[in-house]
Amino acid sequence: MATQDRPRLDPETAYEVISPESYAAWDPLLDTFDRLREESPVAWVEDVEQRHPPFWLVTRYDDVMRISKDNATFLNNPQTVVFSLTEGIEFAKKMTGGSPHMVASLVTFDAPIHMKYRKLTQEWFMPKNLHRLEGEIRELAHKTVDRLIDAGGEADFCKLVSQPYPLHVVMQILGVPEEEEPRMLMLTQQMFGGQDEDLNQSGMKDLPPEAITQLVAGAVADFEAYFAKLTAEKRANPTDDVASTIANATVDGEPLNDRDMMGYYIIVAAAGHDTTSASTAGAMLALARDPEQWARVRADRSLLPGIVEEAIRWTSPVQHFMRTAAEDTEVGGQKIAKGDWLMINYVAANHDPAQFENPRKFDASRSPNRHLAFGAGAHQCLGLHLARLEMRILFETLLDRIESVELAGEPARSKSTFVGGLKTLPLSIRPA
Ligand code: HEM
Repeated sequence: MATQDRPRLDPETAYEVISPESYAAWDPLLDTFDRLREESPVAWVEDVEQRHPPFWLVTRYDDVMRISKDNATFLNNPQTVVFSLTEGIEFAKKMTGGSPHMVASLVTFDAPIHMKYRKLTQEWFMPKNLHRLEGEIRELAHKTVDRLIDAGGEADFCKLVSQPYPLHVVMQILGVPEEEEPRMLMLTQQMFGGQDEDLNQSGMKDLPPEAITQLVAGAVADFEAYFAKLTAEKRANPTDDVASTIANATVDGEPLNDRDMMGYYIIVAAAGHDTTSASTAGAMLALARDPEQWARVRADRSLLPGIVEEAIRWTSPVQHFMRTAAEDTEVGGQKIAKGDWLMINYVAANHDPAQFENPRKFDASRSPNRHLAFGAGAHQCLGLHLARLEMRILFETLLDRIESVELAGEPARSKSTFVGGLKTLPLSIRPA
């Protein structure tokens, strides 16, 4: 189909659906997705200033599900997120000798290589193995809640609880010592956090794309140096952490090369904290607005898994991924040409009223709750059991130790098109 015949979004909406500010504002964006699902569920998005290549925006649950599960027709390569600007992508290609990705990782692989790499840690991330981490995670949850209680009544939940706790867990599973955590946080922010000035302390704000990519290249080099040391240690003295699994893994009988191994560490380090953090803070906001629900779950812990699952749907912290059509195809009645780029928008899909009744309501008893916040198909979140476990243990601890919780100010969301959620949540708490 000729490009001019595609159902193109008007420039304002085209800007809105990729602008970090819209994801911070949230409700107006949900209104836009409601309109698009009705009027133009597979819509062509062109940026008049050409900061990113054009793509199809997919907003209906069924279409996002279909694309996610058909990994032969819809590839992750060559570009998995939209926030890398056109110039940035060109610069990455120069730096890597052709790849648009500064980091090679599971999300940038397709079959057959993807499954070979995924299998290396898949068992490690299954509930049977994670079970043995429960004690350590619970200890971490208690230490975190201690800090909240010690703050004496009023505190920013994001700063004291939802941000540091998942970061500690992920660093613990990677075997990174606590004193190195601030450095790791800074490095992952340099690579992935770019869009919100409050969250990103890396100095990237307002830099031109080439400078940003160079900064990212520096962060990757720092990561590589750090993890090269860690790899040597884990090969000499393997333990049962995930870093030891990666360091000693082989694909087709060969150890991983440096770029692939670093990519593996980096994806685990980066994917595991902001996501879980945003869902945790979202659940707390919903509960703070609804004291009766807090009291109900305190009294009946069988409601807890529902809180965790609904928090993940309601917040949808990974807001999109991109796919590229491997052949001419069709989505929701719209013709898609080989090579076209598509945005599967999880926020839109998880607020589709055809799948979720009253989707903007936080409803812990929602059943079924087959949300797409973890994706679906071959790339479905590798850390989903860990995310659920961490959140369950934290909420068990909070419910045990906190009698009641109320909002003590205005919460604020981060400006980010890719991974986003609450960045501040002022709460007033009464310890049990
Ligand atoms: C609430 C928390 C989380 C959410 C909402 C989330 C969401 C996602 C999504 C949407 C994807 C892409 C799925 C797709 O393309 O179909 C993904 C992939 C991934 N996630 Fe998560 N994630 C979370 C927590 C974690 C944690 C705790 C870890 C690990 C420590 C993790 C590691 C990964 C990895 C390694 C991938 C790539 C998998 C692949 O491409 O095969 N995630 N996640």
